[in-house]
Amino acid sequence: MTSPAANPPAATPANTLDVRDAVKSYGDVKALQGVSLNIAPGQFMALLGPNGAGKSTLFQLLSGLFVPDGGAISICGEDFLKKPTVGLAKIGVVFQQPTLDLDLSVTGNLRFHAALHGLGRAGRERIAPLLAQVGLGGSEDKICRTLSGGNRRKVELARALLHRPALLLMDEATVGLDPQSRTSLMALVRGLCRDQGLSVLWATHLVNEAEQADRVYVLHRGKQLIEGTPAAVTAASGCATLEEAFLKMTVPPPGAPGAGGKPVEKTA
Ligand SMILES: Nc1ncnc2c1ncn2[C@@H]1O[C@H](COP(=O)(O)OP(=O)(O)O)[C@@H](O)[C@H]1O
Ligand SMILES: [Mg+2]
Repeated sequence: MTSPAANPPAATPANTLDVRDAVKSYGDVKALQGVSLNIAPGQFMALLGPNGAGKSTLFQLLSGLFVPDGGAISICGEDFLKKPTVGLAKIGVVFQQPTLDLDLSVTGNLRFHAALHGLGRAGRERIAPLLAQVGLGGSEDKICRTLSGGNRRKVELARALLHRPALLLMDEATVGLDPQSRTSLMALVRGLCRDQGLSVLWATHLVNEAEQADRVYVLHRGKQLIEGTPAAVTAASGCATLEEAFLKMTVPPPGAPGAGGKPVEKTA
């Protein structure tokens, strides 16, 4: 477990993702104020933070939509800021806002993505098995508009996996889904980590999702509060549950002018 002061290990080809001291502002708004994290192959990291913590901003840096004001990002050991196309080929993204073309079929959406990535015939041949893997076998020709919210997210997941990324970025992908669909999506992605060595950064404000992660990175007001296994983060906060620990770290005590956001000391 790392306290905010601790430096993460240096970028290494052994890690799927290394972020060091990433900084990003929008005018006067300091969205990220020195975020550092590492994700190993097959690791599932929850990026846990309340609304406005900076989760989507980090995703925008990792998907090349914005360049950080400072810091370094390596994907599979390659400098993402110097070689963005190399890094982009290794990541799959499910953004917070759904991005399917609802008037296209399930397969149509994936074929379009395969063409964008220049995947050719081999990519197109992956579509049907991938849809079966995410539980959408038999829905290939359905128009996306006719699918449930959970199944639309699964199409986005299949699309994000089509070019066989090493790192999957999921930005609050379960928001708006019913509990069964949430559980099913999480189980699918956990299975991909376990069986295929996929690395995952799963942004959420839901503690019960973060509890299922290998590691939890608590982000608040653009800063790391703590990073470690769910059990270690809970123990370090002196709380009985991760929910309590998260509230203690991010919600102001009664009467206080603002949220605490105080780092929890490293204890283990
Ligand atoms: N495009 C933008 N322009 C200005 N401010 C932004 C923009 N995007 C995000 N912000 C601000 O940056 C902070 C972090 O936002 P965001 O990364 O969306 O957090 P989260 O995804 O954790 O809810 C918030 O204060 C938000 O209002
Ligand atoms: Mg967000």
